[in-house]
Amino acid sequence: MTHKIILDTDPGIDDAMAIFFAFQAKEIDVLGLTTVYGNVPVEMAAQNALSLVELAGLDIPVCKGVGRPWVGPESTYAHFVHGDDGFGNIDHPPSSRTLDPRSSAQFIIDKAREFPGEITIVAVGPLGNLALALRLEPELPKLIKAVNIMGGAAFVPGNVTPVAEANIWNDAHAADIVFSADWTINMFGLDVTYDVPFAPQFIDTLAEVNPILGGFVAKASQFYMEFYSQGKDEQVCFFHDAYPIAHLMHPELFEMTNGNMRIGTGELDKGQTMFAPANTTMSPLWLESQKSNVATQVDHEALTELFVSTYAL
Ligand code: RIB
Ligand code: CA
Repeated sequence: MTHKIILDTDPGIDDAMAIFFAFQAKEIDVLGLTTVYGNVPVEMAAQNALSLVELAGLDIPVCKGVGRPWVGPESTYAHFVHGDDGFGNIDHPPSSRTLDPRSSAQFIIDKAREFPGEITIVAVGPLGNLALALRLEPELPKLIKAVNIMGGAAFVPGNVTPVAEANIWNDAHAADIVFSADWTINMFGLDVTYDVPFAPQFIDTLAEVNPILGGFVAKASQFYMEFYSQGKDEQVCFFHDAYPIAHLMHPELFEMTNGNMRIGTGELDKGQTMFAPANTTMSPLWLESQKSNVATQVDHEALTELFVSTYAL
């Protein structure tokens, strides 16, 4: 079975690894990359996405999306994690490709109308494009098969604040709009993506089995790995964004639990994914909210093998 996806992304190094993973997977049909600010400004995210499509030798539309959060000031971005260029300061040459003229939100709407009920939106950055698309096309949930999100932290601490993960924290009001819509959401938060540390050997293997795409990931990940290895005895990093794609290909690798989700938008709870598994609360504040499926476990070994075998294709 082939899965049509739109990858909404803020590349970013783990975004790049996930994007190449999706490009390599025979069962994934990437209709387009829709970019958003987050790790880097949206202009850089868009140019980086063009570079990734060009390096892969593909002809896939790339759109530029929202550059600021729904509410509040411009982001300060995550150059300390992904480098000044979003690719670990590797001086990758600028792309010669050009952007699709549509905004990310308009591209999502156009494709949803073209392929009603067939598309899974894989969102691995802040959720402003999806929120805007929902406001422009209120019928969007009926036209989209599912939304697979890398974001949130249901039962574990956040990575930006003690309670919030970066993608949700970066645009909490947009996330609230997205999680309040009546569509199927599968959330892959730090509960699973922080649970599988990747060592340098894994990155070297990606480069061995795929010198071009894996080689790029290996080069770009050096800066990224330094960030994640601070204070640790061994070099390690986390490829958060590939999880929602892996679930599309092999859902059996994941344990999911269903429940009601609320998103914090206040000063202290900004970006908190406040999840109540089924039958754990009587609060109407949760019972009257939309439900999400949240990943709680992943088969580490099988996931790692899936990444390597897919890069090796
Ligand atoms: O918290 C990790 C997420 O934030 C990943 O998507 C990473 O690329 C950043 O966007
Ligand atoms: Ca990302």
